[in-house]
Amino acid sequence: MRIPLNRTSQEPIYLQIRDRISRLIKSGSLQPGEQLPSIRALAESVQVNKLTVIEAYGVLEADGLVFARQGAGYFVNNFASASNFANHGIATPERSSTLDPAQEVVIAKKWGESFLDQYMTSLQAQQEPDMIDFTSGFPRPSGLEDLAKIARRAMTQVGDVLFSYDFPQGQFTLRKQVAQMLAWKLGLEVSADDLIITNGSKQALSLALQYHLRAGDWAIVESPTYHGAIALLENLGVRIIGIPMCKDGMNLELLEKYLHSHRPKLIYTISTLHNPTGITTSQAHRRELLSLAEKYHCHILEDNAYEGLNFAPSPAPIKALDRSDLVTYVGTFSKTLMPGLRVGYMLATGKHYQALVEQKLLHDLHVSTVAQAIASEYLASGHYRRHLNHLRTINHQRHDAMLQAMECNFPDSVRWTVPQGGLFIWVQLPDRTPMAAIRQAAAEQKVLIGCGKPFFPDGQGYPALRLNFSQSLENIDRGIALLGDLLKQFLLRSERIT
Ligand SMILES: Cc1ncc(COP(=O)(O)O)c(C=O)c1O
Repeated sequence: MRIPLNRTSQEPIYLQIRDRISRLIKSGSLQPGEQLPSIRALAESVQVNKLTVIEAYGVLEADGLVFARQGAGYFVNNFASASNFANHGIATPERSSTLDPAQEVVIAKKWGESFLDQYMTSLQAQQEPDMIDFTSGFPRPSGLEDLAKIARRAMTQVGDVLFSYDFPQGQFTLRKQVAQMLAWKLGLEVSADDLIITNGSKQALSLALQYHLRAGDWAIVESPTYHGAIALLENLGVRIIGIPMCKDGMNLELLEKYLHSHRPKLIYTISTLHNPTGITTSQAHRRELLSLAEKYHCHILEDNAYEGLNFAPSPAPIKALDRSDLVTYVGTFSKTLMPGLRVGYMLATGKHYQALVEQKLLHDLHVSTVAQAIASEYLASGHYRRHLNHLRTINHQRHDAMLQAMECNFPDSVRWTVPQGGLFIWVQLPDRTPMAAIRQAAAEQKVLIGCGKPFFPDGQGYPALRLNFSQSLENIDRGIALLGDLLKQFLLRSERIT
């Protein structure tokens, strides 16, 4: 195997080896199942220390591209090349959704329950003991011991910086690490100077929306979409148009119609592992969305909060195609590490960058130096990659278990999406399903479910549920069986009445 190395480059040698091997795997030059050279052989052939090769193989393993077989060495994973990866282990749905009921554009008038009320109700309910919680928007906690070790190391490195104020755009080291991660994982060619570290991606959304929009402007969202973004838009007095989500993403024909008729200033889109439907749009869909935005001079706010939780490779973000600084891209460590850290980031190019840094400064000066140092140490130590790999494996099992349980327990008239990662399955129920009564009955039996209404810009939409599948397998079995019984009872009752 030929691995050209640039020994004068700033990029560590182990990463150069990792990049080269990963390219060989992705291009198919190294086939699934093929054995990599032994650590000693590769170290000799490229003239590096064995530890460097061990480190490179460790990273490839954490990225899910290779696996180690005890005593035999490293092998290319069976699902490492793009074509094989796509179908690995995803349960084949018998009743997958077409998202048919959502074919109407929604122009929001007045949203129902406030985001604050929902947020508080959900937090309180989650704190009740023995609750099976299908509503939450974060993965199950894990690795507290790792966190303690990493936080200690981070604290020793952060040193004096803690005793003064820091740069509004965030620490250079963390921005550089995020830039490398985005380049390596998503093909986003960015530099640390295009990034702003924010208090979660929620703050990044808030800053971008405030910067691009004024009260009375029109903005487009997917319908359904993340209710936190709807609340931000409402708070700004922005008029919202909800374009229906189809199984491939936002309906682009309707999008063009409304771009033409209402001349909105911004499109908010969750292109990968959409919240709440779990849908990831194709490269072609992304290209077309961007070219429509260019045609109508409309900004795009691309929210990639669930990136990293994918079981299959996803297309490069819309931002990777952007040549005219039309797209602001937002990401977070909340869904992959922990929401409590409150570390997210925003990628803005051209003239928008400085203006957004100024907004960040006006809001809260900068993100906690401690939180940034912890995120940075996770990345530097390789823990982040290992943790993510572990999380994806567990989530994948739970996703499959949930789909199977739904297949066994839910009535025939119910449909759902089959996401390739993320945290949620979106369940569509027949018209006239008494959602509030089902939710109440489930809560009485200690099962929390999130109804679909808040995810629609008008707070109505069609009857639906968003179920978080990152539960223990036991909770999935028990919770879905109970929910299935309730759905059967209530749907039968509503059929009899009508
Ligand atoms: C799509 C989406 N974007 C952004 C956020 C905000 O996440 P955070 O501020 O914790 O990064 C969430 C949280 O649920 C989300 O689902």
